[in-house]
Amino acid sequence: MSLAPEVHLSADEPLPPAGALRRCVRLSPERFLSDYWEKQPLFSAAADLPASFNDLFAIDDLDRLFRTGSLRSTFVRVIRDGQDVDPGHWRRSGDSGVKVAVTDYVDPVAVGAYWDAGSTIMVYTIDGLCLPVGDFCRRLADDVGHRVTANAYASPPGRRALPLHYDNHDVFILQIDGSKRWRVYDAVAPLPFENEQGGDLGDPGDRTPLIDVTMRPGDTLYIPRGFSHCVQTEDQRSIHLTLGVVGLTWHDVLSKVLAKVLANERAFRPVLPLGFGGGAARVRAELPELVEQAVAAVARDGLAEAFDAVEAWESKAKQMEVASVLQRTDQAASLALGSRVRLRSGIRPTLSDHRADGATVLVLHRRRIPVPEHLLGVVRLLLDGRAASAQSLAALVPDTSADETFTLVRALVGHGVLVPDDDRPVRSGTGS
Ligand SMILES: [Fe+2]
Repeated sequence: MSLAPEVHLSADEPLPPAGALRRCVRLSPERFLSDYWEKQPLFSAAADLPASFNDLFAIDDLDRLFRTGSLRSTFVRVIRDGQDVDPGHWRRSGDSGVKVAVTDYVDPVAVGAYWDAGSTIMVYTIDGLCLPVGDFCRRLADDVGHRVTANAYASPPGRRALPLHYDNHDVFILQIDGSKRWRVYDAVAPLPFENEQGGDLGDPGDRTPLIDVTMRPGDTLYIPRGFSHCVQTEDQRSIHLTLGVVGLTWHDVLSKVLAKVLANERAFRPVLPLGFGGGAARVRAELPELVEQAVAAVARDGLAEAFDAVEAWESKAKQMEVASVLQRTDQAASLALGSRVRLRSGIRPTLSDHRADGATVLVLHRRRIPVPEHLLGVVRLLLDGRAASAQSLAALVPDTSADETFTLVRALVGHGVLVPDDDRPVRSGTGS
């Protein structure tokens, strides 16, 4: 039985939405990756991008987080005149009657006072607190192949939040509300590592920025790590998201490989020669040969270790989409024959025939879901990652009926293997 490698969409099925990377830059992903990624900053005006960010985030979402009174101070920074305000000034202990003492709630009244007085408020890892932002970060991670996390910034009018500095990871800035002026200068530290953070770099003086732009809602800015930048609000407040790409470098991979391979070599276990009897001179004399031995050991045994490290990084970069916790059964029940479903992102179910009766099962974590032989083709198409309806899947696989395929699709939604394709978290209160 031969199967088409891809599910072809019929004319009446909607086109997939623009990819997350394409929503962040005005160029094709291929052009961006070849000419800008890690090389130079890129500003994209809202008019040149496929969609606004109204579906992701708004000032109201940020406001609500604070208004719950349950936000923890670990997630928040208050920045006044470029300096962090001691959390002790805007933190409070829990008094909600719970038996466990909570001592690090954000005090919304105190934070509100700092905001009124001109401080910038930052919320770390907003992707973990706001489902649409988390979903967007996961899809961007799929596009760029590295983990993505997001922070939210709110700045009052007429303020400079942070001094001239550079970041140690590449960022995409998405302007959500109001406006903010960004000036981006040459790289002062090309491709810095994670532990090389650029603090206050002083005044840029009369240096000419590569980019000097006032960002407005829907605009984006890509800044590679190491490129210095400073920001200030003008006559409006500003809300923006910073999506940071947490990348794995070749240095990360090779240093891990080196440590692991050399740990298995007897030659590197002794301490350096003792000091008496000309220890330092012996160290210098023996070093070149040991370096040669190290290179030979890595060349001999390092490749498999490197592949393992890259594979571990790949699965970590693939951020898992969490299925509905309480409503999977409802979702399965409300499906129709023509409802599009897709594999939940970031999971790797496998087909296995390790069952007592020899039948095939779909294995996902601890779940083992039996799959009738004649529906294996349907499952393989779904594992291929394309969204499709039970109806269109049945039409592609010989000897299957739409009803049987539909029953299987419903079961897989109930198990959280598949999700309805329209199950994208969208901000409440938006029409987009
Ligand atoms: Fe920055």
